[in-house]
Amino acid sequence: MLISVLSLKGSPGATTLAVALAARWPAPARALVVEADPSGGDLGLRFSLSSTPGLVSLAAAARRSGDADLVWLHTQQLPGGLPVISAPPDADQARAALTALAPDPTSGLGVLRAAANQPGTVVIVDCGRVDSGSPVLPIVRASDAVVLLSRAHADDLAHLPRRLPAVGRWSPNPVLLLVGEGYSTAEVARELGVPPLGRVPDDRNGAAVLCGRPSKLRWGRSGPVHSALGRFAHGVATELATRERTPAGRTQPRLAEPVTQVPVLRSAPGVPPGAVSSNGVRVAPNPATGHRDQQGGQAS
Ligand SMILES: Nc1ncnc2c1ncn2[C@@H]1O[C@H](COP(=O)(O)OP(=O)(O)O)[C@@H](O)[C@H]1O
Ligand SMILES: [Mg+2]
Repeated sequence: MLISVLSLKGSPGATTLAVALAARWPAPARALVVEADPSGGDLGLRFSLSSTPGLVSLAAAARRSGDADLVWLHTQQLPGGLPVISAPPDADQARAALTALAPDPTSGLGVLRAAANQPGTVVIVDCGRVDSGSPVLPIVRASDAVVLLSRAHADDLAHLPRRLPAVGRWSPNPVLLLVGEGYSTAEVARELGVPPLGRVPDDRNGAAVLCGRPSKLRWGRSGPVHSALGRFAHGVATELATRERTPAGRTQPRLAEPVTQVPVLRSAPGVPPGAVSSNGVRVAPNPATGHRDQQGGQAS
């Protein structure tokens, strides 16, 4: 199975979640993280990895072979033994490697797809922040599932109605996850017409372990132990694995589904301070009633 994790704006925690999903992917599948962020990788610096093997050596090798086992020769291990293919921190080098992995029948995208086609194998690709010109887009398009992260404040959400249809064209099965404070999942579902699968917990300690920083938590055999972020990632991974087994039973609406109304969210930045609801969410007036809807919450 090939899974892309991406954002459209900002830095909502794509790399951290990609590592968490792989670390907590349900057994017995073997999971691998490919850091494919065109703006340059973070994992090498975070976990003091060697500069090679990684994305650059894989891109070079993929010119000569499309073997399904090739990716495993270019991994290094994170704590707990999680295999990763790290991107160079330099954006130019990362982009060059990703361009070399572009979809040519004889070149590199074939190796990611070939690896992901192996039974019991999950390749989780951290695509970073993606736009229509990104060299990682061919990988997104080839993915079985796309996980889209967005922070949940008005300015983070305002661009989504315009951009979600594009995401729906990249992938038939995108999943939206909210991150951090802001509008509730119920509000986002109502205003965008797209129900988020959930909200990534704000978990400093869990994220610290997944970023190689000192933390009260430790990294067990399957990711951070006793971490809210680890538990959440396990739930998402289990849901994605279930969808792969039962594609016909998919219940999540596609992000490409039409937005039925103009989102109220777009007018929130102009709401005066008095309109901030008890949970800190700025609720814009309902255009139909002219009243402010105060039902916002932190549902997850
Ligand atoms: N769920 C989370 N809770 C708290 N902090 C997080 C969470 N996810 C990521 N972070 C922190 O946010 C920062 C950016 O995370 P990162 O995964 O690198 O984002 P991105 O890949 O989207 O740029 C890191 O310092 C990371 O520890
Ligand atoms: Mg990142």
